[in-house]
Amino acid sequence: MNILFLNGPNLNLLGQREPEKYGLTTLADIEASVRLEAKARDVTVAFKQSNVEGELVTWIQDAKGNYDAIVINAAAYTHTSIAIRDAIAAVAIPTTEIHISNVHAREEFRHHSVIASVCRGQITGFGCFSYILGLIASVNENAKPQ
Ligand code: DQA
Repeated sequence: MNILFLNGPNLNLLGQREPEKYGLTTLADIEASVRLEAKARDVTVAFKQSNVEGELVTWIQDAKGNYDAIVINAAAYTHTSIAIRDAIAAVAIPTTEIHISNVHAREEFRHHSVIASVCRGQITGFGCFSYILGLIASVNENAKPQ
């Protein structure tokens, strides 16, 4: 199984950015823990981050035929990007939405996700462990009869 992990804007600043909300772990640390967990489950992963909406859209489009699942922390684009939503719908690859913080316990504008309806499910609020939960959810979905 091959899983694409996508990270949206400002997640490159994890470790320095609002540590009271997002912790002190860097995106590179998260990637390392995802790779360890993936290896133990015989899964291969690609791990990407961009601050550019169109780049994320292109990566989702290019995932067709190359990945069995997508795990996406679309960051602020979660709440605004119809383009990312439409790309997920277009490729029809099982996609899991994840967040480090609990978006429902934060400002009102974070309560709505425009991508949630085209994702298999949403994992939010478990800190960096949300990435590992996203990996496990993807593996579990992939094991279900199609
Ligand atoms: C986030 C939550 C978003 O609302 C926010 O814009 C982020 C990070 C999270 O992982 O908690 O940048 O996706």
